[in-house]
Amino acid sequence: MKKVLIVYFSQGKTNMRVAEAISKGLIEAGHEIKIWNLMDGRPPDPREYDLFGIGSPTYYFQLPFIVTDYVNGLPDLSGLPAFVFVVNGSHRGNTGNSLRHALSLKNARELGYFHCHGASYFLGYLKVGYLFSADHPSTDDLTRAAEFGREVAAHLAGERYVKPGDDPPGALLYRVERLAFSRCLVKHVYSRLFRTNARCRPDCDLCIKQCPAKNITRGEDGRLLRGRDCLLCLSCEKNCPEDAITSLVAGPILRPVMLLNTFLGSRDPSLDYARVIHKNGQTQRL
Ligand SMILES: Cc1cc2nc3c(=O)[nH]c(=O)nc-3n(C[C@H](O)[C@H](O)[C@H](O)COP(=O)(O)O)c2cc1C
Repeated sequence: MKKVLIVYFSQGKTNMRVAEAISKGLIEAGHEIKIWNLMDGRPPDPREYDLFGIGSPTYYFQLPFIVTDYVNGLPDLSGLPAFVFVVNGSHRGNTGNSLRHALSLKNARELGYFHCHGASYFLGYLKVGYLFSADHPSTDDLTRAAEFGREVAAHLAGERYVKPGDDPPGALLYRVERLAFSRCLVKHVYSRLFRTNARCRPDCDLCIKQCPAKNITRGEDGRLLRGRDCLLCLSCEKNCPEDAITSLVAGPILRPVMLLNTFLGSRDPSLDYARVIHKNGQTQRL
């Protein structure tokens, strides 16, 4: 029996469900699993385990900054066997490539790479009426994830692993959009352009509790204050029961970009979607 640590970042539970399915495959092979969501603080040291798995969603065609920071902050893994999984709503861009490269820079030894779709609660698309990959991870995705867990166990036991090549770079449009949401621009532009209106209730604090970066506080005058660690996940704006928070990303200025992406996505045969309405922190299917 080997000890396995699986670390993932999940706000919408799709990565969590995939992590659990992968661990099911590993448990069947006789291993002991510890699963950790980066939402719950700093995970245990992977060097205390025999196998390390890391999973991430795609945010803006790249790794969310919280995952980048976690992987970059890891110590040297000195050949520790590792696997990677990515769960994304439409196009994963360079998410898988960056995660795999970051782990190899830490001298981890890759034993598997898995990806599948997960429901995309990205507010920019919800606001224009689209929920991509609405029913993912599907039963089939989770069956594949469990099978992946069994395959990783076999590679750990010595079966030969043939490393897959990098994901293709993706459409030029999405590569440009990835640059438009670079960390520097998020920090110095987008994160400064959240607005909170008078409907905000000082007794609510849902946005403060749910911010994965702990970036929101309430000042003595009752107003919301934001630091410089925003991930631009938009959970504050998306979940606000009063629709009191607005951002540049999900607002009228970038609406044409969201309309273009959802138009292209809705015509992509490899993607499925549901039409929705998003209001007062709730997404309802039409
Ligand atoms: C802020 C934000 C940005 C996103 N950007 C992308 C993207 O560029 N490409 C994509 O395929 N999915 C994107 N998604 C969808 C997520 O990758 C997908 O919903 C994933 O399954 C979420 O994982 P979770 O449910 O574990 O949090 C985005 C979601 C959010 C919240």
